Amino acid sequence: MRRPLIVGNWKMNKTASEAVAFIRDFRERVAASPHAEVVLAPAFTALESARNALGPSSWIGLGAQNVHWETHGSFTGEVSAPMLRELDCRYVIVGHSDRRTLFGERDETIQKKVQAALRHGLSPILCVGESLAERETGLTESVVTAQLNGGLAGLSPQDLATVTIAYEPVWAIGTGRAATTEQAVTVHRSIRLFVETGWDNDTASVVRILYGGSVTPQNIEPLLASDAIDGALVGGACLSPDSFARIVRSAQIQRV
Ligand code: PGA
Repeated sequence: MRRPLIVGNWKMNKTASEAVAFIRDFRERVAASPHAEVVLAPAFTALESARNALGPSSWIGLGAQNVHWETHGSFTGEVSAPMLRELDCRYVIVGHSDRRTLFGERDETIQKKVQAALRHGLSPILCVGESLAERETGLTESVVTAQLNGGLAGLSPQDLATVTIAYEPVWAIGTGRAATTEQAVTVHRSIRLFVETGWDNDTASVVRILYGGSVTPQNIEPLLASDAIDGALVGGACLSPDSFARIVRSAQIQRV
C-alpha cells in the first residue's frame, strides 16, 4: 500500500519569516497522521528557518524546488544536493514545468539532477506533463513517456523505488482548471505501466505518482478517491495554511 504524499510547492513565494509564520499557523490546524506524508518545498532562502521552525524529526518533511547536479564548483546561482541535505531536505522537485518552460531545462539535465539527488540521499519528485496543444493533438502519452525516459533512464529498481513522479499537465498548472480524475487516472496508469515495462512489477507497485495542477480543498477528494493517484503536488492552494491544511486533512482519511 502506497502512503499518500502531499507536497506544497511554494515556488517563489514566502520569505524566511513568512515561512516560519506559515508553519506555526499550519501546525495548529492539522496533526500528524500515519495515513499521509506531508512535505513543504520553500524557496532556498527559507529552507533553514523552515527546518528550525519544524524542529527535529518533524512529521512535516522538507523539500527543495531545484538542485544542481554537481556537488560544488563554479556554478553561480546554483545549489547542490549536499547543501540541501545539510538543511535536512528529504525531497527535491526536479523538472517542474516552470523550470522546463521558463528556464529551458531539458531532459538531459533533468536526468543529471535526478541522479545527483539520489547519490546524495534526496528523493527526487520528477515532474512530467503535456501542454494543451500536445493534449489536443493526442500527444499526451508520448510526451509524458519521453519525459519519463529522459528523467529516469538507467536508474536501478532500488533507486527508482525512491523516486516520486508528479503528473502535472501544463494546462492545469495555476489555471484553476484541474484535470478530471478520469484524465489524471488515465495518465497515471500509463506511467505505472511504463515503470512496470521498463523495470519490474515490484518497482511499479511502490513508486508514488502524484497529481499536480490546480489542486484545491474542493477537488482533492475525488482525485484521491482513485488508488491510481498517490497524492498531490500543490501550488497556489498551499500558500494559505487554511487551504493547505484542508487538503492535508482530506489526504489523511485512511484509504480502504
Ligand atoms: P498549482 O501549481 O497548484 O498552482 O496549479 C502546481 C504546481 O505547479 O506544482
